Amino acid sequence: MNFLEERILKDGIVKEGNVLKVDSFLNHQMDINLFKQMGEEFKRRFADKNINKIMTIEASGIGIACVVASYFDVPVVFAKKSQSINIDGDVYVAEVESFTHKNKNQVIVSKRFLGPEDHVLIIDDFLANGCALQGLISIVAQAGGTVEGIGIAVEKGFQSGGRMIRNLGYQLESLAIVESMDAATGNVKFRDQSEV
Ligand code: G4P
Ligand code: NA
Ligand code: NA
Repeated sequence: MNFLEERILKDGIVKEGNVLKVDSFLNHQMDINLFKQMGEEFKRRFADKNINKIMTIEASGIGIACVVASYFDVPVVFAKKSQSINIDGDVYVAEVESFTHKNKNQVIVSKRFLGPEDHVLIIDDFLANGCALQGLISIVAQAGGTVEGIGIAVEKGFQSGGRMIRNLGYQLESLAIVESMDAATGNVKFRDQSEV
């Protein structure tokens, strides 16, 4: 078991409806030493890639992305969620549907901060159905940039996002892949990644 899986077992809380609460260390209160370990691990897993930009989506991806970026020594750009219909031509736009929140957001990135010269590592806290990731990938494509890889803290392996993204050919690295969880017992089972 790796450091993040251990921390999830120690401090994660399984809620009804297949929701894993990790707000004591990941997406409300944030354990920066844990984020540093994540940064080191992503740096190791993407060592052969020439990455000049980290991209994420607000809100809870930003903290992790910033710490990870310090290991790559590159800037972070985050996609902003926008309700506005009056979006001007200076931004790339993607529609992101939230399965969890049952709503749609347009996410935007200024054209000033992403272009064909960019080799991007996408970072986020959770991967469930992959709608957020699809939006970010679309924005990098609109910019003519390259997605070099995707680093996720917690993938919900029983939802479809991970398979979809890997089938598209991206190097997707999730530090913890939850295969199943049980709110009644609090049990969490992880996918064995020791062979990959
Ligand atoms: P998807 O992007 O993979 O399709 O995810 P989905 O719509 O299912 O998830 C919507 C939001 O809920 C995302 O945050 C995602 O990170 C979060 N989420 C999904 N499953 C879990 C879970 O089991 N536990 C926790 N803690 N979060 C989960 P968001 O609302 O888009 O952004 P943010 O503002 O919270 O960062
Ligand atoms: Na979130
Ligand atoms: Na997120």
